[in-house]
Amino acid sequence: MSYPFSSALITGASSGIGEAMVHELGDRGVDMVLVARRRDVLEALAERYPNCEVLVADLTTEQGLAAVAERIGDVDRPVDLVVNNAGFGSAGAFVGIDADRLDDEIALNIAALTRLSHAALTVMMQRRRGWVLNVSSIAGFQASPGLAVYAATKAYVTSLSESLHAEAASAGVVVTALCPGLTRTGFQEVSGTEHFVDRFPDFVWTSAHQVARDGLAAVAKGKTVAVPGAVYKGIVAATGVTPRPLVRWLSGRLGR
Ligand SMILES: NC(=O)c1ccc[n+]([C@@H]2O[C@H](COP(=O)([O-])OP(=O)(O)OC[C@H]3O[C@@H](n4cnc5c(N)ncnc54)[C@H](OP(=O)(O)O)[C@@H]3O)[C@@H](O)[C@H]2O)c1
Repeated sequence: MSYPFSSALITGASSGIGEAMVHELGDRGVDMVLVARRRDVLEALAERYPNCEVLVADLTTEQGLAAVAERIGDVDRPVDLVVNNAGFGSAGAFVGIDADRLDDEIALNIAALTRLSHAALTVMMQRRRGWVLNVSSIAGFQASPGLAVYAATKAYVTSLSESLHAEAASAGVVVTALCPGLTRTGFQEVSGTEHFVDRFPDFVWTSAHQVARDGLAAVAKGKTVAVPGAVYKGIVAATGVTPRPLVRWLSGRLGR
């Protein structure tokens, strides 16, 4: 697939879905700005592709966010595509999770994504050219006891992206929500969901590469919401017609 964008900034580029996007875009000659906290990993990735910048930033800090927003807004070095991919979850009972960790989760999954979407749309809508891909999750389509804050942050990401898709369309700019299901990445270790790897059969796992390709293809085609994989397309369709109490119960059983 060839893409309409010639430059991209990817947050969470050092691992998992973000790293898979780096390979997908880098192999097609797209110039890139790679954002994450781990400099050594980003530098090793950047060496593999020409015109690849490293921007080390912790997106839960004002300084990190400001640096990335400034780079997106740099009119002399325009970025065609912004991928808001950095994010993490916290498994367990709501009251059992450290409150500061939940603050960081909301800061990264919601506040940083909002700020960087704002920075991107401000320049892109003036330029009348641009694409924003916000990485959400199928967890955002229903309540998820045991991953309560994570699911709530992703419901926000999908809702915000759908609204922004409608607002930006008249300026020729695309905003897409990418909603993957289970994908083997660093996410399981960080979120405390390693037990999902043994619990769920292989066919429900999507590869990071497939998620990356489906998401990039969707934003390139101007889609509003993308759900990679037939299994998850079916689950999302079923969720929409299943009574909410049953969806909550099922989702709580699966998340244990
Ligand atoms: N894997 C799944 O099953 C799944 C399913 C649905 C949605 N998602 C979503 O997919 C996105 C990517 O996750 P992943 O699965 O690829 O997990 P991952 O392998 O753990 O990657 C997360 C990325 O986010 C970066 N990151 C974390 N905290 C950060 C911070 N404070 N500032 C800047 N960057 C930060 C990490 O880099 P550093 O550690 O170097 O900073 C890493 O590159 C997330 O939004 C996640 O919610 C994942």
